[in-house]
Amino acid sequence: MKGVIFVELVNMAEDAFGEDTVDDVLRKADLANDGAFTTVGNYPCSELVKIVIAFSEHSGLSPEVLQRQFGFWMMDFFVKHYPQFFADKTNAFGLLEAVDRQIHVEVKKLYPDAKLPRFDTQRLENGHLEMIYISKNPLEAFCHGLIEACLARFDEAGEVARTPSANTPGAVRFDVALTGAGADPA
Ligand code: HEM
Repeated sequence: MKGVIFVELVNMAEDAFGEDTVDDVLRKADLANDGAFTTVGNYPCSELVKIVIAFSEHSGLSPEVLQRQFGFWMMDFFVKHYPQFFADKTNAFGLLEAVDRQIHVEVKKLYPDAKLPRFDTQRLENGHLEMIYISKNPLEAFCHGLIEACLARFDEAGEVARTPSANTPGAVRFDVALTGAGADPA
């Protein structure tokens, strides 16, 4: 997994808990490289999971809550550092559909060693979008946070439901439903 994800997770933790605490927690987390990450490096996703668990134990917040928060954090980071992917998007569904078809395609060109998840998206009736998340990594809560952050970014009220995919073993199905007034994503 790209180092930038690790660096930003540590940045979020520093923002929340302060630098000294983060150093302490990382030291105790028994990480392969003592918790030193660079944006250009690549590290196993299992290390990311270890970091989340370490901060969960430190803070009492569940890994689920921390991963979801991290989704919001990364959305802000992406908006700041990759504004070109957001410039022509006018709503959350448009952005979510573009992740697999456009955004991660461009990310792969920029970083050929990136191992990106796959998404199958489909618009359903009544303001629902189905998103099947296919990844070897156990980051569905992170993904959940990113999806919620997409809605928040466009000030759209919605609900995100998450279940195992019925058709694709190991995949996760997100049902994103717009709930606000004028919930027409067209
Ligand atoms: C400008 C927007 C975005 C950029 C630049 C971007 C870029 C990236 C990069 C560099 C990675 C790491 C890949 C690796 O470790 O090898 C990643 C992973 C990921 N991205 Fe995106 N992404 C963007 C938007 C989104 C959005 C909106 C979603 C929401 C559905 C999303 C879902 C994910 C997930 C879940 C992962 C974790 C990897 C996995 O599950 O296997 N991304 N993305």
